[in-house]
Amino acid sequence: MKVDVLLGLQWGDEGKGKVVDVLTPEYDVITRFQGGPNAGHTLEFGDVKHVLHNIPSGIFHGDKINIVGNGVVLDPITFKEELDALKEKGFDITKNLYISKKAHLILPTHRILDAASEASKGKTKIGSTLKGIGPTYMDKTGRNGLRVGDILSNFDEKYEALKKKHLQLLGMYNFEYDIEEYEKGLFESIEALRSLNLIDSEHEINRYIRNGKKVLAEGAQGTMLDIDFGSYPYVTSSNTVTAGACIGMGIAPNRIGEVYGIFKAYCTRVGSGPFPSELFDETGEELRKAGHEFGATTGRPRRCGWIDLVALKYAVMINGVTQLIMTKSDVLSGFETIKIAVAYKIGDEIVEEFPFELPDNLEPVYKEIPGWNKDLTNVMSEDEFPEELKDYISYLEKELNVPVSIVSVGPGREQTIVRK
Ligand code: GDP
Ligand code: IMO
Ligand code: MG
Repeated sequence: MKVDVLLGLQWGDEGKGKVVDVLTPEYDVITRFQGGPNAGHTLEFGDVKHVLHNIPSGIFHGDKINIVGNGVVLDPITFKEELDALKEKGFDITKNLYISKKAHLILPTHRILDAASEASKGKTKIGSTLKGIGPTYMDKTGRNGLRVGDILSNFDEKYEALKKKHLQLLGMYNFEYDIEEYEKGLFESIEALRSLNLIDSEHEINRYIRNGKKVLAEGAQGTMLDIDFGSYPYVTSSNTVTAGACIGMGIAPNRIGEVYGIFKAYCTRVGSGPFPSELFDETGEELRKAGHEFGATTGRPRRCGWIDLVALKYAVMINGVTQLIMTKSDVLSGFETIKIAVAYKIGDEIVEEFPFELPDNLEPVYKEIPGWNKDLTNVMSEDEFPEELKDYISYLEKELNVPVSIVSVGPGREQTIVRK
């Protein structure tokens, strides 16, 4: 059996959590393969909204296996908080949740280093979620990190040794912090983590594949935040693309099956960095309001703009996308016209291939198409789509050369149209 991958094609928050939850009944195993609690994946069902950060979005289907893969970074403190919050809502998910022993641990001092680094950058800050992601991946590639498996013996000693290194590093910054505040709950959370199913996930996942089980890998962040292919340095610290799923789970490239590339019918970004089709006018404000565009992890208002085909084509290429999923189509209802960035004008040059850098003098070249006025949130099939939406979808399919197989028209599970 192959592993299908679902990942974001923009700057994150494309609706991955919602769609993974909808697709989960078709799968046996759901995995996360990169990122950590910088992610905020929202699911809505039964009038309740859940935001998951480190736990795969298949977790609400009690008969499915959910695995936090080796490529993920995990903060024991926020992980415990996430588990406790779910338990309080009546979901005891610990039985079908499995965690790779090779996943790296985000320690309190990683979070302090993240905050100190951002503060030192001033205006050029990345806009990090301050969850300690960058410093943890730095320790991983620097070969200093601690992994989940390290909590099984002498954790306190290992922690103190790494903490000492971090405190030395922090001495370079002019940054004040209260270490006790950051360390609150650490040892209880390590204890809690020890009681969970800690596994050699690469063996388990490959065993599932061999035994004919269906696996869905859930991406976090988005392609434009990828450490290699995103808008560097305004990116996250992991490979968010399809290839990252191989590394972050321990599966061979020829095991990848379908690649679902998910995108919003427009575009958003949270944090700093270039965003060619960003709108600074009333239309941007309208999109933010209609789409409730506020970060699921940090609550920050998301920057909003039109869809960007230059970036999307690049994302489709890098990921080998086989099926597209368009979300938040309902949010575009009521706009007289819709714009699509089809190229970038940089100086006198028209650029259609995503360039090395996105300079300040870049101007998007737009194609304008008619919008639609129909409320989509109760639509049950694509036959009910307004002609203008059908045309929008056909145009995107033609340009991206990949079929749009799912259209999402609201945050709820049932507001998901699978196209014929
Ligand atoms: P993720 O990080 O990719 O899982 O996305 P987020 O959860 O951060 O952000 C997506 C937001 O849009 C969440 O609040 C979802 O509930 C919501 N959402 C998902 N799909 C749709 C949709 O089709 N229409 C609308 N209006 N909201 C959606
Ligand atoms: P999901 O999975 C949107 C952004 C941050 C910042 C940059 C680096 O919900 O789509 P980091 O904390 O990783 O060092 O921040 O990446 N970012 C996200 N933006 N959605 C996310 O995750 C994000 N995770 C990180 O805002 O610009
Ligand atoms: Mg999100």
